[in-house]
Amino acid sequence: MEKNCQELNLRKVAMIGCGFVGSASAFALMQSGLFSEMVLIDADMDRADGEAMDIRHGLPFERPMKIYAGDYDDIVDAAIIIITAGANQKPDETRLDLVHKNVAILRNIIPEISKRGCQGILLIVSNPVDILTYAALKISGFPENRVIGSGTVLDTSRLKYEIGEYLGVDSRSVHAFIIGEHGDSEIAAWSSANVSGVPLRNFYEMRGRHKYEKAAERIADTVKNSAYEIIAKKKATYYGIAMSVRRICEAIVRDEKSILPISSRMHGEYGIDDVVLSMPAIVGKDGLESLVPIDLDEKEQRNLKESADTLKEVLADIDC
Ligand code: LAC
Repeated sequence: MEKNCQELNLRKVAMIGCGFVGSASAFALMQSGLFSEMVLIDADMDRADGEAMDIRHGLPFERPMKIYAGDYDDIVDAAIIIITAGANQKPDETRLDLVHKNVAILRNIIPEISKRGCQGILLIVSNPVDILTYAALKISGFPENRVIGSGTVLDTSRLKYEIGEYLGVDSRSVHAFIIGEHGDSEIAAWSSANVSGVPLRNFYEMRGRHKYEKAAERIADTVKNSAYEIIAKKKATYYGIAMSVRRICEAIVRDEKSILPISSRMHGEYGIDDVVLSMPAIVGKDGLESLVPIDLDEKEQRNLKESADTLKEVLADIDC
């Protein structure tokens, strides 16, 4: 029976791509209790089937949920469609190096979703995520609130972790963002960073840490290079991004109005237009509700513009 696309199943999620990131994200979502149905799709259907079977066997430890390998006809009513399909970085590759092969994969996937009139939210995770989110917007023709990317949600989590470790405080009490490209041109927004409202610089003093600038630079570099370091050791990253996917889905499914640095289209904020990059945004049941253009100092604004220009150069090359 043809499903009516308007009848979204708000407890249903689709995962397109069952590689390291897709399967780890599916595992995290199974444990989240957010969904009652999850469809796994992969070009290698045996892989999708095997991952679904493997994750299903944990359900008795969690709660009932339908998890199965399917195809595009099975995801028409999914509230969230997550795309992790694509090549991942090799040790000597940047995320931007993946653009041509992963845009080509996206050009095959998105029409299968849009021609079925799916009304769910597209969450792009494949890299380079900012470029692919822009491409997904263009190819799908979906409204901007329904096409978002995982952006620098993971980088921001890495930043909070590193600051928490350095200051000896719960990283959940650290409020700081990585913005711009999820990649080499990303920026740590130090000027608005704080620990429970105490400006970070003051908190450093309070904790007897005096080399603020040096520590900030070291932490920003550690965050920026985390993926390279992990890939050099274990060939891929997947647990951190899986938890980031879960966090974004949580904000959507529970309509939390959480402020998360997802990839979304800029419309003149900080003088930046017609590019997708990561900026804090309010995320709820309709996906992106509104950007939260945080205060940036001059250097941060300059670096954000440079990050946007880097992404625009790549966009020009893929003719989206
Ligand atoms: C990372 C991948 C998800 O930063 O780009 O681990």
